[in-house]
Amino acid sequence: MDIYTKRKSIRKYKTDGEVTKEQLTEILEAARCAPSAKNRQPWKFVVYTGNAKKEILDCMERGIEKQKKSLFMPKKFKNGMASADNTLRIMREAPVIVMVLNTHSKDPLKSVFAGRRITEIHDSLSIGAAIENMLLKATELGVGSLWIGNTVYAHKEITEYMQVNCQLAGAVAFGIADEVPEGRPRKELEEIVEFKS
Ligand SMILES: Cc1cc2nc3c(=O)[nH]c(=O)nc-3n(C[C@H](O)[C@H](O)[C@H](O)COP(=O)(O)O)c2cc1C
Repeated sequence: MDIYTKRKSIRKYKTDGEVTKEQLTEILEAARCAPSAKNRQPWKFVVYTGNAKKEILDCMERGIEKQKKSLFMPKKFKNGMASADNTLRIMREAPVIVMVLNTHSKDPLKSVFAGRRITEIHDSLSIGAAIENMLLKATELGVGSLWIGNTVYAHKEITEYMQVNCQLAGAVAFGIADEVPEGRPRKELEEIVEFKS
């Protein structure tokens, strides 16, 4: 089976399952090899395990709780809070969390002028390529993974804890899968592809 069809988001991890340093190195090496706009490589990866992982996830929890109380949060953003709670629970279960920084960008909730936006989009796409490379390498190695965007709800708290002044593009959880997900549906090829000649 092709590796990209084998990959599934894993939301249950074995409590005694270990991801080895060698596996992690291979996964991060896959990220390093990803293509990037103008070869800017606008990324940095910070690996959290053990007590450091607990501390950063406590920060994430504080950020999410603060967001819940915020009166100024757009409704759509607020609707995502339940999913943020669930994601945090999964992150606590996973033995390894890799925080993915966009070193060329700042707070994702602040607006940027049009010219800058193009660069931002390209950098985000580059980071997406790096993350996908990690997920595919993890699948190949038998390591389960989950791509996480819900860190955005605690962007301030997490970046402060990390002592960085750039954008947190997201996170990836790694661990040994304790579930075999069915796989979520995909649109049919005819729906998403057009051939022109
Ligand atoms: C940019 C991005 C952000 C995501 N954020 C989350 C998240 O915060 N929590 C979560 O449980 N899943 C998250 N996912 C996983 C998606 O829900 C998942 O990829 C999608 O439902 C398809 O399922 P599959 O990965 O098993 O094929 C994210 C995926 C992407 C690409």
